[in-house]
Amino acid sequence: MGKPSRIFVLTGSGISAESGISTYRGGADGEEGLWSEVDFQKYASPEGFSEDPEGVHHFYNVRRKQVREVQPNSAHYALAQLQSKLRESGGDLTLVTQNVDDLHERAGAEVLHMHGEILKGICDMCPRPAFEVQGDLHISDGCDACGRIGTLRPDVVWFGEMPYHMEAIDVALSKADLFVSIGTSGAVYPAAGFVQEAKMRGIKTMELNLEPSDNAYAFDTADYGKAGEVVPRWAAQWGVSL
Ligand code: APR
Repeated sequence: MGKPSRIFVLTGSGISAESGISTYRGGADGEEGLWSEVDFQKYASPEGFSEDPEGVHHFYNVRRKQVREVQPNSAHYALAQLQSKLRESGGDLTLVTQNVDDLHERAGAEVLHMHGEILKGICDMCPRPAFEVQGDLHISDGCDACGRIGTLRPDVVWFGEMPYHMEAIDVALSKADLFVSIGTSGAVYPAAGFVQEAKMRGIKTMELNLEPSDNAYAFDTADYGKAGEVVPRWAAQWGVSL
């Protein structure tokens, strides 16, 4: 059997860790994740936002500034190069990320952000499409489209909300011949369930992570280490060289 040519890749915060972005639940080296420092129910739920909107805006303003200051790492570049190589040869790589940073696209990849994008904002009260946030968001801001004050929020999918692109994800998964999960703990659904869906469809599954994830048992193969090392090593079999 030849090498897989229709690959579905799911990434999580571990792929951006070496770029300097905190993970949510930490890693094997004892580093604390974001959710052990702050309460995710306050900063990642619609209820938390309605209780303290300016506090939640501040949390995302700080993180948005940090995203603007960091750079993609070799794992982001390897995936972007592999995506374009596969597409040139008639295959495909669908890249789905849970990350709200823009490091995949800055590395040159096309990506579906299932948990939204921190650099964008939406209005809770009007159908205006997501817009680029210039600087920060505040409760005193008005919506350029509907004129209401205090209705803007980060375009980030919070707990209890429906992730984006679920239909496109289902279609891409049904066409894949390999499912690869990179830098995610497997703690948050529906993304954590993609490996089981892949298995049910007879698709091979692989995990590339710092350590075995919560659903490591479900993967056919795995390579454990830092994404900046294991992802380029894996992509090299298609001729990717950084
Ligand atoms: N290389 C590869 N993996 C790493 C690295 C690294 N350099 N550093 C840490 N990891 C791994 C950790 O071992 C862990 O398994 O990345 C994973 C990060 O897991 P989480 O912090 O839970 O992040 P993620 O899986 O992306 O979280 C999913 O949770 O709060 C929500 O919406 C948020 O999208 C996020 C979702």
